[in-house]
Amino acid sequence: MGLMPSPSRPDHHASQTAESPAVASAPSVTDSVSPGPRRRRPGLSGSRVALDHKPLWAKAAIGANTYDFSSGRVLPTIYERTTALALQNDAANLGQGFPDSQGPQWMLEQAAAAITDADVGPGNQYAPGLGLLSLREAVAADHQDRHGVALDPEDEVIVTTGATEGITAAILAFAWPGSEVLTFEPHYDSYGACSALAGASLKGIPLRGPDFRPDIEALEDAITAKTSLVLLNTPHNPTGTVFSPAELARIVEIAKKHGVTVMCDEVYEQLVLDGAAHAHRSILSVPGAKDVAVAVGSAGKSFSLTGWKVGWVAGGSELINHLRGIKQFLSYSSGPAYQWAVAEGIRDDRGYFAENAAQLSAGRDILREGLDAAGLRPNRADAGYFTVANISGVTDLSAEEFCTVLANEVKVAAIPVAALTIQHAAEPQDELQKLVRFAFCKNHATIEDALQRISSRLPAALDRHS
Ligand SMILES: Cc1ncc(COP(=O)(O)O)c(C=O)c1O
Repeated sequence: MGLMPSPSRPDHHASQTAESPAVASAPSVTDSVSPGPRRRRPGLSGSRVALDHKPLWAKAAIGANTYDFSSGRVLPTIYERTTALALQNDAANLGQGFPDSQGPQWMLEQAAAAITDADVGPGNQYAPGLGLLSLREAVAADHQDRHGVALDPEDEVIVTTGATEGITAAILAFAWPGSEVLTFEPHYDSYGACSALAGASLKGIPLRGPDFRPDIEALEDAITAKTSLVLLNTPHNPTGTVFSPAELARIVEIAKKHGVTVMCDEVYEQLVLDGAAHAHRSILSVPGAKDVAVAVGSAGKSFSLTGWKVGWVAGGSELINHLRGIKQFLSYSSGPAYQWAVAEGIRDDRGYFAENAAQLSAGRDILREGLDAAGLRPNRADAGYFTVANISGVTDLSAEEFCTVLANEVKVAAIPVAALTIQHAAEPQDELQKLVRFAFCKNHATIEDALQRISSRLPAALDRHS
């Protein structure tokens, strides 16, 4: 079977070459810091790939599962690979998490005017390193209104080039070489890449279906003297879990007790769907959280404008100052016209957030019903763009193999959740290896087309591979 191009995995059966270490005997990232055998803590996964002598680019790629051990080359991200596969197969693309819609028309017009009309907006030269003051003020006012958190726009909010840059800056600022970074997995792929860039090792605590709630006690058990940073993501990609106020409060308490920093990736904050168990609360809404935690936001997600790459990080002035030390030498600043239009949007979304959440809720329900009918056991996402389906009821294939069959033979693109895990450490029978992520942030016609293809073609395709 022609598998989806993916990093060849250095699993226990891999032969040893210069680029393909014999993993069973290779020291883990952690071992390389502290020589000698080390017992793996139960329930934790961590990369077992020897990284010591690799250059930084390779470490980043390995951290994000985008290093091809057989060729020694960097692969595009799983999202780009899936989109390429979808195009190649003329498949309905429920893979990459970008919406089909354009975002609010009035924001597009505001950005266009700011670019072309010298009398409108901030102009086309460098934005300030911290970002436009109007956007920082809007973010601060929004936190006050929705979460009761007072933020000083002068030094407690920094605008970034997408949430991605904010995440990068946070990890580089708060993790250090030899330290351990903890996250719930599956996780956004940049967490692994950036932890590797920081010289830290990422450890994952699995979110388990069917509810995918975070096991906070397992998080605390995983903390050691080496732990520098905890990476949270609520609402969570891809499970849609929205962390409860009690879960957030407990995490802040643990962070304070153990002296670790928390980065909370809240890019799906405006995408909480009908029937969600919890409303979204920012980590900063926990009293005293500002001293230990930063929250990351994204206009790309909030306004369906993913190409604009406007994000921000909010938190106490000391943490934001440290993060600035990194951020100002990444992009320095970007997109003043986009920042300007986003500030307008945050000040008054003109009903867009509710409208968008309703549209996404309907898409989720259509997708969920269709996947359920096909025996794929989807979860009911409380938020975000994705549903996660467990394929073990219909096939023994791994999710990666399943996604290849799905794209090539059923003509539907989706993403194996294992690509969003520290997969080199996961056992083949682990639930995370059986989960497939489907996006519902698409036109309902695209979702229905994909479901039609699944119901008419999947059973025969799976028969061919049983
Ligand atoms: C959890 C998570 N964090 C961050 C990002 C990146 O956000 P941005 O596009 O604003 O860089 C994404 C994008 O998919 C995401 O899913």
